[in-house]
Amino acid sequence: MTTYDVVIRNGTVVTAAETTQCDIGIRNGKVVTLADSLDDADRVIDATDKLVMPGGIDSHCHIEQESSGGIQSADDFYSGTVSAVHGGTTTIIPFAAQHRGQSLVDVVQAYHELARPKAVIDYAFHLIISDPTEEVIAKELPALIDDGYTSFKVYMTYDALRLDDRQMLDILACAREEGAMVMVHAENHEMIQWLTSRLLDRGHIEPRYHAIAHAGIAEGEATHRAIRLSELVDTPILVVHVSDQKAINEIRAAQAAGLRIYGETCPQYLFLTAEDLDRDGMEGAKYCCSPPPRDDANQQLVWDGLANGTFQVFSSDHAPYRFDETGKLSAGPNPPFTKIANGVPGIELRLPLLFRGVKEGRLSLQQFVTLASANAARIYGLYPRKGTIAIGSDADIAIWDPEAEMTVSYDQLHDDVGYTPYEGIQLTGLPVTMLSRGRVVVDEGELLVDRGSGEFLRCERPAMARPLGRLLREVDPSRNFGADILDEDMISGDAGQGAS
Ligand code: URP
Ligand code: ZN
Ligand code: ZN
Repeated sequence: MTTYDVVIRNGTVVTAAETTQCDIGIRNGKVVTLADSLDDADRVIDATDKLVMPGGIDSHCHIEQESSGGIQSADDFYSGTVSAVHGGTTTIIPFAAQHRGQSLVDVVQAYHELARPKAVIDYAFHLIISDPTEEVIAKELPALIDDGYTSFKVYMTYDALRLDDRQMLDILACAREEGAMVMVHAENHEMIQWLTSRLLDRGHIEPRYHAIAHAGIAEGEATHRAIRLSELVDTPILVVHVSDQKAINEIRAAQAAGLRIYGETCPQYLFLTAEDLDRDGMEGAKYCCSPPPRDDANQQLVWDGLANGTFQVFSSDHAPYRFDETGKLSAGPNPPFTKIANGVPGIELRLPLLFRGVKEGRLSLQQFVTLASANAARIYGLYPRKGTIAIGSDADIAIWDPEAEMTVSYDQLHDDVGYTPYEGIQLTGLPVTMLSRGRVVVDEGELLVDRGSGEFLRCERPAMARPLGRLLREVDPSRNFGADILDEDMISGDAGQGAS
């Protein structure tokens, strides 16, 4: 009988807090010992010259999801999770997406049935709320939050998904009362629609006009409005897939004013630009996502936002559509930009692309881990089970070779999309061995676990979703003539485990 199931020896262990040289002892799927020198294990993994980091958490990805336009994403929970884990990720948080008229409870059930038999790594679900009926707000959401679905995404654009400001306020008030995190897709719908009509009227239908219609100012305006809605209700929000200077400035100003506003960005805003949408023929369709990639100056601002803490989370927003009639070209071979499914793949390259930031001296290793996993775990109620290497944490571990090199080529990837927007990019630093709950899931490129061996994770109510307790006069009963507008049951104050 050995003491450990697995020991990882001689590695450089990196967490969001520190870098240390130590061995890791794993038993029953958990980290149980961190010490100078361990042996006596069924399996010993030598991590000499390697970085041993918490497995990544991709907290924004669309898997086996039907888009608002009725197009099925290319990856199911098998290909999506296999691809994720080859790229250094051991937990995903995709969406259980409500289409209007659907019960959220039924939607969640349906996504479980898709994920359970296929996922090879652990997963939780965010909810997408497109139909916030009385039943949804008063009954379904509180029950689902109790059951571990403690975050939801709302959209300010897309005809089939968007909520008006009042619906957003209702959802924010519900999140405040129940302790959930609200993720916001912030783009001004009417600005986009107005620009789109003008472009189409003048015959400007090519993919490059997608980036014109989804103007940076539309993202900036909606981000400003989302922040003001959040402030009115005293409820934190996380603005997802931020791409543009105006939105970044709004988030940073709100943070500087002490508001609990969090930001997320994605690889497409670091490595792609609107020029990519202007490729020959329909090639630009591969790069159509919302918000769209911007320009070199905005790329630099996004890198800066990762380095200076404006962004807490770095996700892929993997929204995989094949470049054929099942996906990007579902409306025909030459569709106008309005009929091209929005989204780019990136679940496997998210972390190797982010690691470029470490190699180029833009990010420390601590910042890398913070962005790759720790903050997503904190913001979505999975910390410290996930997102760190500590006694009692799940042994979700990514062993990286910081000197391994790769020129990105789609045939090395494991998704079902058929292309990568990052073709040809040079990378240094790659995950080589991946453990999920102590199981070696990938070793030197080989998948070693079965379909369906991933587990569903119930998320706690995130401390970072707690209200500030700093009420505007109009919603503060001590200053608004006693009008009890907000429920005051939620514990306010320190959000704890603050993001860096
Ligand atoms: O274009 C994108 N990002 N598509 C995915 C859906 C979303 O809004 O995140
Ligand atoms: Zn979105
Ligand atoms: Zn998305």
